[in-house]
Amino acid sequence: MKTIILASAFVAGIAAQSGAWQQCGGKGWSGATTCVSGYTCTYSNDWYSQCLPGAPAATTTTTTSTRQTTLTTSTTTAAPSSTTSTAATGKFKWLGANEAGAEFGQDTYPGRWGTEFTFPSTSAIQTLIGQGYNIFRVAFSMERLAPNTLTNTFDPAYLQNLTQTINYITSAGAYAVLDPHNFGRYYGNIITSTADFQSFWGKLATQFVSNSRVVFDTNNEYHDMDQTLVFNLNQAAINGIRAAGATSQYIFVEGNSWSGAWTWVSSGNAASLVNLKDPQNKIIYEMHQYLDSDGSGTSTACVSTDIGVQRLLAATAWLRANGKLGVLGEFAGGANSVCKTAVTGLLDHLKANSDVWTGALWWAAGPWWGDYMYGFEPPSGTGYTYYNSLLKNYLP
Ligand SMILES: *[C@@H]1O[C@H](CO)[C@@H](O)[C@H](O)[C@H]1NC(C)=O
Repeated sequence: MKTIILASAFVAGIAAQSGAWQQCGGKGWSGATTCVSGYTCTYSNDWYSQCLPGAPAATTTTTTSTRQTTLTTSTTTAAPSSTTSTAATGKFKWLGANEAGAEFGQDTYPGRWGTEFTFPSTSAIQTLIGQGYNIFRVAFSMERLAPNTLTNTFDPAYLQNLTQTINYITSAGAYAVLDPHNFGRYYGNIITSTADFQSFWGKLATQFVSNSRVVFDTNNEYHDMDQTLVFNLNQAAINGIRAAGATSQYIFVEGNSWSGAWTWVSSGNAASLVNLKDPQNKIIYEMHQYLDSDGSGTSTACVSTDIGVQRLLAATAWLRANGKLGVLGEFAGGANSVCKTAVTGLLDHLKANSDVWTGALWWAAGPWWGDYMYGFEPPSGTGYTYYNSLLKNYLP
C-alpha cells in the first residue's frame, strides 16, 4: 500500500508540475505540488504555496515543524534574478494607468480649473493607448461634481470635462474607470448615508448608462471606517448603478484599510466584502499595492526584490478560493533595480494568476506630476521612462 501511494504520487509529480510563480499547495489545493526546474514550492500561508525561483534550501531540519521548515525555505529562496521575464503564462484583460489631476487640490473646494485641479491630457492618453494600454482610471472629486451636498445636482462644467475625458478613452476602444477619489469621505467627513451615496451613484451611472466600456469604482481607498459601513456603501453603489439601468458595466469595489492587497484578508475586508451582491455578477475586487516598507507608496525604496509577489499571495488565494475576480487598481515602484525586480515579480504573479487577476493599473499618469517618483505621463515621467518598456511586456 505504502509503495503504491508513493509510486502514484511520483507519477503525478512528473505528469503535472506547477509552472513559474504558480500555486503548488495550500488548503483545498488539488493541483501539482512540485515545481518546474529552477523553482521551489514555497509556503506562503496555509492557503497558498507558490513556485518561486531558486533551488530548495540546502538543508531541511527534521526536528522542526513543517511550517517552520518551509518558512526557513522561504527566506533562503533565491530572489528573481531577471528583470525581463517571459516565464509567466496567462493574459490580462486590462493593463493601464491611473490618470490623476481632476482630484488635485483636495483641501480646496470647488477650486479653480488650471490652478487647483486639471483634467488628464487626451494626447498623453492617446500615446499610451497607441502602445496598447487599454484601461485608465480617472480620478475626480465628489465635492466638485456634487457641490455642498452629496445629493446635489451635478456641476455642469465639471461633469462636462469629466465626461469628455471618459468618452475620449472609451471612443478609442479602451476602458475608463470612474474613480471618485474620496477615501469614503465627503468634505473630509466619513460618508454615513448609504441612501445619499446610492443616489449619487444612480445619477452618475445615468450619465454613462449605455457605455459598456465605463467601469464604476465605488470609491478610492476607504480607510479607518466601520467595516459594515464599507460593505454597505459598496452595496449601495452597486444598487444605485443597477437601478439606473446601467447593467452592462463592471463595478470595481474597494475595501477598508486603503484597499490594500497585502491586508485584504487580515483586515477583515475578505470576510465582509465576499458577501457583496450584484444582479449582473460583474463585481471586480479592486486592491492596491505598493512595495515600500509601510505599503503607502511614499518612498522610492522597495523592501526586497520579491516583495511584490509576497504582498499579493494571500489575496490571490482568497480570490481563487471564493471564485472572485480582482484588479490591482494601483501599484508602483521607484526607478531603481530592486523595485524593478519586485515589480517584475508582481506582474509575473498577476499574469500567472490571470484566471483571478484581470489586470493592473500603474499609479499614476497625469499632466501635473512633474518629476514625481512614480509619474507615468509620457514622454518624460520618471516612472514612464523607467518602467514603460517593462510594462509593455504584459500588455493584453
Ligand atoms: C473645463 O475645461 C475647460 C477647458 O477645456 C476650462 O476652461 C474650464 O474651466 C473647465 N471647467 C471645470 C469646472 O473643470
